[in-house]
Amino acid sequence: MPIRGILFDAYGTLFDVHSVASLAEEIFPDKGIALSALWRDKQLEYTRLRTLSDRYADFLQVTEDALRYACARLGLPLTEPGVGRLLGQYHRLTAFPDALVTLRQLRAQGFALSVLSNGTPGMLASVVDSAGMSGLFDHLLSADQVRKFKTAPEVYQLGVAAFGYVAAELAFVSANGWDACCATWFGYQTFWINRAGDPVEQLGVVPTGQGRRLGDLIDFADRRNCD
Ligand code: LAC
Repeated sequence: MPIRGILFDAYGTLFDVHSVASLAEEIFPDKGIALSALWRDKQLEYTRLRTLSDRYADFLQVTEDALRYACARLGLPLTEPGVGRLLGQYHRLTAFPDALVTLRQLRAQGFALSVLSNGTPGMLASVVDSAGMSGLFDHLLSADQVRKFKTAPEVYQLGVAAFGYVAAELAFVSANGWDACCATWFGYQTFWINRAGDPVEQLGVVPTGQGRRLGDLIDFADRRNCD
């Protein structure tokens, strides 16, 4: 089926969550990479625990909670100004180098584009703006609208509702393998940006396509629309 619109995951896909590592390294020398990794793991774990237990708190809160836990676990003395500085990075994460050019090209080819993310509306607006991507997206869709996180179907449904097409006519793009698989379960055509060459998750479902870079999506979209 041709693709009528493309939905992008935000964190890890368009924006590098590990771009916090250099500030983390400045605040906690030699621990920046470990902190960044544990912070991200805990952030995702808390989204799932809160959704499973029906105890929603928004993604900014979850991100702060995960930061506090990760520092405590690594024995790092986190101050309140440190929390503010590190969390502030989430509003201006570095975009992956080929993100802007790929989005512009897809837009020029006539694809409608949206973000579909766990991030709060405020977090998404500021990170998109700081990367110079304002105006490229028709919608910034936030899990906050349904007070659940991925991989709840209600979150993926936001893309269908916003575009007004069935899921099979939309492509969902993520560098998080679990996100690409669960969006496939939901019914989207999916493209996994597998930068590290990781194995596919063992969930009994595989993304429709995969590539190593965001730019590989252009070929995928062209091919789907020529079939
Ligand atoms: C997001 C998380 C999964 O942007 O990275 O939704």
